[in-house]
This record gives sequence, structure tokens and C-alpha cells, in this order.
Amino acid sequence: MISITNTAKQTFNLGKKTAASLCGGDILTLSGELGAGKTVFIKGLAVCFGIKQTVRSPSFNLMKIYNLPKTKKIKHFVHLDCYRLKSAQEVIDIGLLEHLGAPNTVCAVEWPEKIAPLIKKFKTQKIKISILKNNQRKIVMK
Ligand SMILES: Nc1ncnc2c1ncn2[C@@H]1O[C@H](COP(=O)(O)OP(=O)(O)OP(=O)(O)O)[C@@H](O)[C@H]1O
Ligand SMILES: [Mg+2]
Repeated sequence: MISITNTAKQTFNLGKKTAASLCGGDILTLSGELGAGKTVFIKGLAVCFGIKQTVRSPSFNLMKIYNLPKTKKIKHFVHLDCYRLKSAQEVIDIGLLEHLGAPNTVCAVEWPEKIAPLIKKFKTQKIKISILKNNQRKIVMK
């Protein structure tokens, strides 16, 4: 599916809409250049999941695990940002493999290219965001 958004809010809303169709065990990868809108999309996911905390780019702590409200079928949401990663071993060391594909967890991975050998063992939903101009983005989901 291809979507064009003209504001950050539209990308956020697309994230929200996408979250409604996710199940535990799902892994989303988000690629696209710096400032493309990967985190904006993920903030939309988080709101749909009922996460009240502000979702920020976890660049500095790499991985952030959120617990969903008890009313949700999905129990945990893991946000990973691999931009600063030097090797896939770093995410193995912090326990990513416990979460990737876990039945009650949804994972969203920014800069998945950095951990390609790890990720390729899993079935993923791939989201690619390109900057068309100013506030316009092309979002391809497959
Ligand atoms: N249509 C749009 N969709 C998403 N973001 C947009 C759009 N138009 C403008 N923006 C702006 O682009 C920026 C996207 O930032 P965001 O942190 O989501 O990027 P990112 O892809 O996560 O980058 P990084 O690789 O640095 O983590 C925000 O400042 C947002 O307001
Ligand atoms: Mg980001």
C-alpha cells in the first residue's frame, strides 16, 4: 500500500490506523532517511496502543519497552532505533531476541538495515518513508 501524507499529523494518524490491525508477535521495520517521519509514525502506533508516556526517539538508549494497558490483547510495545548501532551484537546484548516475535509483543524497528542479519530470520511488515518535499512524505507498506 502506498500513502502520501502532507503533514506530520497525517503520518501520525496512519501509524494509529496501522496499529489497529497489528497482533502480538508482529515486527514492523521503518526505513527512510533522517527526519523522514519514522518516529512520528511510531508515536501514532503508541497512542493506539494506549501508551500514555511520550514516545521519543530511543537513539540514546537504543531500545524502549512500553507496557500496554491491561485491557489490550498486546502486552508490550518495543521501540528500537538502530541508527547509532555499530554491530548487531549490541542489541543481542541488551536482550532484543527475547522480544522480537514474542507472542504478546509488537516491535517497531527504526534503521533495520543496521541489524539486517538478525531481522531477516523473522517475517516483518516493511514500512519505507521517503521525503518528497517539505512536509510531503511517501509511505510504502508491505
Ligand atoms: N508528512 C510528514 N510526515 C512525518 N513527519 C513530517 C511530515 N512533514 C513534516 N514532518 C516533520 O519531519 C520530522 C520527522 O521526524 P522523525 O523524528 O519522525 O523522523 P525519523 O524518521 O524518526 O528520523 P530519525 O532517523 O532521525 O530517527 C518531524 O519534525 C515532523 O514534524
Ligand atoms: Mg526516529
